[in-house]
Amino acid sequence: MISFNAKKDEKTKKFLSQIKDLKNTLNTFSSPCNILFPENLENNIKIIEKVLQKHNLLYKVFYAHKCNKSLAIVKEASLLNVNIDVANIYELRRALISGFTGDRIEATGPKNKEFLILAIEQNVTINVDNLSELNTILELNKKNINILLRISSFFENYAVERITRFGMSYEDILEALDIICRNKFLNLLGFSFHVDTVKNSEKVTAMKNALKLTTKTIEMGLSPKVIDIGGGFKVNYIDSEDEWNSSITELKQSFLSLNSLTWNNDTFGMNIKNNTLAGTLNIYNFYNKDKEAEDLDLFLSTPIEDYQNQTVAEILTDNMITIYVEPGKALLDNLGVTISKVNFVKKIKDDLVVGLDMRRNDLVMVESEVFLDPIVVSESEKLKEKVGVYFVGNLCLEGDLIYKRKIFIDQIPKEGDLVVFINTAGYFMDFNYLDNSKTPVTNKVAAVEKNNSFVFYMDEVYNPITSKE
Ligand SMILES: Cc1ncc(COP(=O)(O)O)c(C=O)c1O
Repeated sequence: MISFNAKKDEKTKKFLSQIKDLKNTLNTFSSPCNILFPENLENNIKIIEKVLQKHNLLYKVFYAHKCNKSLAIVKEASLLNVNIDVANIYELRRALISGFTGDRIEATGPKNKEFLILAIEQNVTINVDNLSELNTILELNKKNINILLRISSFFENYAVERITRFGMSYEDILEALDIICRNKFLNLLGFSFHVDTVKNSEKVTAMKNALKLTTKTIEMGLSPKVIDIGGGFKVNYIDSEDEWNSSITELKQSFLSLNSLTWNNDTFGMNIKNNTLAGTLNIYNFYNKDKEAEDLDLFLSTPIEDYQNQTVAEILTDNMITIYVEPGKALLDNLGVTISKVNFVKKIKDDLVVGLDMRRNDLVMVESEVFLDPIVVSESEKLKEKVGVYFVGNLCLEGDLIYKRKIFIDQIPKEGDLVVFINTAGYFMDFNYLDNSKTPVTNKVAAVEKNNSFVFYMDEVYNPITSKE
């Protein structure tokens, strides 16, 4: 029986232990409802800071806002020792109305003119993605503005090791530096990268490129003092390593057997040829055996040959370079759950299908399935043996399955019961609501612990100060 039990922190456990009592309160909000625990943010920031401090670094932490559209989280962040990375004008507006001033904001990602205008007006640091952005900044602005240049191609031994679609090629960076030298109001803070990888070696390659560019820029008479290493720090979502490994194996075995564990025998991207499996399971690695922020520690502790085997951290401290980090999901670990009502339960062929009052978009990141089992909150009798069911969404769309795999549960819920999805704040909750201006986004509610119970505030009205009074 496959089982992907989610890791839960104390606050999540407490919330779940009270959920039956909270059921009526939860009825106030439409289904699905995203519950946030903004108070957990501080601890996650401290975990990252502790590693940076251990290496005696000059640093700034930026919360990568893109992984959740919640105002409550941004408001909480504005009162903490953290800055914010905004990737579009909606995020910038949210940061500004939540108490961030421009000097604590960095604009990343590709930008349109509207975004650049507001960023410049508010003295936001602009992480420049391309030359046309730089030219627009020149056109719009004649006052001092802090900029970072984002690198897109990373060389190792003179060969391109990795490229990303963001940032500038080496040639474009040289042109940008030339423009900066001619326009003194462009204050170059330094270079940035974000490599979407879990491989330390690729991040280190990116760092070497940023260091080389820093040296070159100093030779040109400029004084860069920042290297921004982006985000991408790993999170462990899973309770047990053994369970993760055995469930993944069982899932793969099921593709070859008649005992299907997936809807319409979906194989998550694997191919079956002559009764053998080929390819890789196209899923995100929800299990991570490293301790919290261990990957950041490893990166900072990596020696670099070209610098007499000094570690990344030593090179930065020796050269008084400030490191910027932009963690997203790592700061939102344990920051929320998603709750849906059950609409119906029915049988199709031999399988039970549980219809939820939510859609697949309420629980995915782009196209990826979330490999964390939900919890059923129901008064119905406990089964002697768990049964595998399919959770489907409320859209009139064949593909609207909350999970393509069976979920094994020990209670069959009834209409009106609740299903809770754990640790959904980082990307899973609302990342797929991409067009902020048009799509109604699922309700978000901040849950604050008070006298051993929870008090709820709609996301827009949550205030980190008054909620604690
Ligand atoms: C530029 C940049 N910084 C930071 C992040 C946050 O990444 P993560 O949530 O993996 O830490 C992203 C994610 O796409 C990004 O593009």
